[in-house]
Amino acid sequence: MTQATSAVALDGDVVDRLIQLIRDNGTDLAESALTVPTAHFVSRERAEAEITLMRSLPLIVGHVSDIPDPGSFFTRTILGIPLLVVRQKDGSVGVFRNMCRHRGGHVEPAEKGRKPIFMCQYHGWSYAAEGGALKGVPYEETGGKVDRRCNSLIAFPAEVRHGLIFATLSDIEPRPVAAYLGPEIDSQILPWQLEESVVFIDETIELDINWKLVVDGTIDSLHAQFLHPKPGGVGSRTVNHCAVFKEFGRHGKMFMARAKLKKLLDAGEDGSASSKYIGTVMQIFPNNVFVEAPEHVELWSVWPNVDDPTKCSVRFRFLVRADILSPELEARVRKSWEILREAGMEEDFPMEASIQRNAVSWPEGSYHYGRNEKPAQHLHRQLHKEIDGARTGPGTISFS
Ligand code: FES
Ligand SMILES: [Fe+2]
Repeated sequence: MTQATSAVALDGDVVDRLIQLIRDNGTDLAESALTVPTAHFVSRERAEAEITLMRSLPLIVGHVSDIPDPGSFFTRTILGIPLLVVRQKDGSVGVFRNMCRHRGGHVEPAEKGRKPIFMCQYHGWSYAAEGGALKGVPYEETGGKVDRRCNSLIAFPAEVRHGLIFATLSDIEPRPVAAYLGPEIDSQILPWQLEESVVFIDETIELDINWKLVVDGTIDSLHAQFLHPKPGGVGSRTVNHCAVFKEFGRHGKMFMARAKLKKLLDAGEDGSASSKYIGTVMQIFPNNVFVEAPEHVELWSVWPNVDDPTKCSVRFRFLVRADILSPELEARVRKSWEILREAGMEEDFPMEASIQRNAVSWPEGSYHYGRNEKPAQHLHRQLHKEIDGARTGPGTISFS
């Protein structure tokens, strides 16, 4: 299937490297083991630093199919900021604070819809869907003249790329998304044709887990054999402790061998043409993970809870190319969601919640990330660079 093979083809050395790792019972190694303070999963101060960092980065806040036509909108609170996201006439997307410039009421209470004008229901100030300009101010003759030029809805920098709506939720100079992703990541997302895809599954789960532990779980190549041992389940589909991890700046991509590849090799067959037997997980720093399946792409967006570092919400979107969607494919994608949901709810999330509870009860402690956990180390190392300026000392990650 072109989706899967084209991305892997960009990494021609990956198949050979994975085959070698299978033969050696090995996995890519980080330069050192890593120790992460448990405080990083419970501390409010740490959480605030992470959220401040996140707000300065282009974040994925939606998919174009959420707002197909001019004036289509959705409202969503992201990192504590109520947003009103509106498709513009030129196809671009306006990301506004869902906040009236009179006294801060929400200008749109509905989750989604389509409107040319948004009118605040408190005192009737109204705003154009196009650009967010303030249009009407009831009783202005007695209230006093309101300057239209500086009372539009407050806009955040936003850009659509690969069908994904990126927004930077601060007033810093935004980075172009292509530059933020970098050419390697950008070119590997391209063949998925996300802009031509429909969001087939869109589910959100609230968890009592720090967001980083959930991201860790998505790129952990050591656990499936132990945590998902059921015959035919997640653990039986990949080769445990066998992953290539490529760093692309802040981001990274893990390549895992499917069990079928090991079977081929064990049977003495040449696995070199077997890129379809490779699964990938792409981490887009800081909080998004793409899991590439043969016929669809899964996007996990893991959002910290701004009020409580021990909680997060995970939004799962399964994107399927519109041109290949069929009832049979729908059934297969639904089945994949069921398998993921079951493994997550019954196995991964309860384990991660236990890690969280232990961090809460032992905030002066630390957790270990071995050299063979290079993918899971990447996020913590990158946050260390961006938040701590790579400074080591009390309260920071350490290397050994
Ligand atoms: S708060 Fe919106 S019109 Fe008053
Ligand atoms: Fe898992």
